[in-house]
Amino acid sequence: MRVLVMLDGTVVDPGTPVIRVDDLGITRGDGVFETILVVDGKPRELGPHLDRLDRSAAMLQLPPPSRPDWEHCVQAVLDNWRGGAEMALKMIYTRGPEFGDGTPTGYAMGLEIGEKVLRARQTGVAAITLDRGYDPEIVSRAPWLLLGAKSLSYAVNMAATRHAESVGASEVIFIAADGSVLEGPTSSVVLVNGRTLRTTPPSSGILKGTTQGALFRAAERAGWVTKVEPVTLAELREADALFMASSVRKITRVHTLDGTALADTTDLREELNALYESEY
Ligand SMILES: Cc1ncc(COP(=O)(O)O)c(C=O)c1O
Repeated sequence: MRVLVMLDGTVVDPGTPVIRVDDLGITRGDGVFETILVVDGKPRELGPHLDRLDRSAAMLQLPPPSRPDWEHCVQAVLDNWRGGAEMALKMIYTRGPEFGDGTPTGYAMGLEIGEKVLRARQTGVAAITLDRGYDPEIVSRAPWLLLGAKSLSYAVNMAATRHAESVGASEVIFIAADGSVLEGPTSSVVLVNGRTLRTTPPSSGILKGTTQGALFRAAERAGWVTKVEPVTLAELREADALFMASSVRKITRVHTLDGTALADTTDLREELNALYESEY
């Protein structure tokens, strides 16, 4: 790790212990986070990421994050970065130590982008569909399930990714109990049919993707039709092309779905990535 800045703006040597062992973020995964892509010192979609941090914190009933403090903290990471042109900037906001005074723990880290992600941007990924185990109908009825919050409890998402790797794939597309398509463990799903882009709605208990949002903005300007609506598994399989979108992976092509090779859509990948880049 290269840069660590606490929410109060203190720049800390990344090797220094700064978090208590009884922090509820560690002992219960009780907190929220964001990962932002920074290119040439400029954070992408900072406003939408901070908005999502606010929404996630509200769902967990955490104290509202202070926007000026976070903006200051993010700026300090940018100012102290000595790594490559791209950086993954992670913001962590937990409920703080158990039996503490209720003050959340907050910090931001600047990290290099992992090799696996960089390779996948070029080569694409093999994805498998996996059950996520809930019906979208539960989302509004059981807000304590925190569906759609970017909470620190990502163990399930990581386990799903490991399962994909154990069967020779590298990505997962989660499917709800009613057969509708959800999202990846760390990405949004984008389908292409002709000149129409589709993604699945946050009302199904998934994250509103900032990368998908940027892509759709640019695509609409370029004359594409965009749709945010429920997608069935059959529609996923019949799409002209599939992509996984997230801040660090950008718009990564799915070349194989459940073991079936998809049509070569390298040109489309380049077109969509160019549209996405045109936002910055
Ligand atoms: C579950 C999930 N869905 C979607 C996304 C994509 O969001 P964004 O494009 O804002 O990075 C992420 C990002 O990590 C995620 O964890």
